[in-house]
Amino acid sequence: MALEKTFVMLKPDALQRGLYGEIISRLEAKGLKFRAAKMFRFTPQLCREHYAHHAGKPFFPKLVEFMCSAPVLALVLEGKDAVNQVRAMCGATDCGKAAPGTIRGDLGLSVQSNLIHASDSRETAEAEIARFFTKEEVTGYPRQAEKSVHSEDELK
Ligand code: RTP
Ligand code: MG
Repeated sequence: MALEKTFVMLKPDALQRGLYGEIISRLEAKGLKFRAAKMFRFTPQLCREHYAHHAGKPFFPKLVEFMCSAPVLALVLEGKDAVNQVRAMCGATDCGKAAPGTIRGDLGLSVQSNLIHASDSRETAEAEIARFFTKEEVTGYPRQAEKSVHSEDELK
């Protein structure tokens, strides 16, 4: 079972509220390997591309405005079943309905300002990583902890 990569983005509210450390700590403690990180500010055009599947929905204009309101932090994380694991750590889209113990459930109240984006499938992860990072920016390095985080079989 090969390890997989997922794309994560800390939204403008995470920056404004000083929650980068808290959220990154949770992702690190889970055992995920950090492969890339980049802070940038969305243009409306790039944001509309990222959320193209929501174009036309009532919340779409406000979502674009919110996502462009301050920089975001984009991350590439790797681990066993990373896509599903990080989605589960985020919790439900609406922070008010997200389970306690999840990032949104513990740290937020809002539907729109829900702190974090994470890819919803392996295919989406590949497309999102390619949208925001060059191949060279996704670092490769041996991690000493790999054999403590995963079993030998899981690393094959
Ligand atoms: P994301 O794509 O950001 O990881 O979040 P998600 O899969 O949990 O939720 P999704 O349905 O894809 O919605 C994308 C983002 O749009 C905002 N939203 N606002 N006001 C509203 O009713 C509403 N619904 C969605 C949220 O920021 C949500 O994460
Ligand atoms: Mg989504």
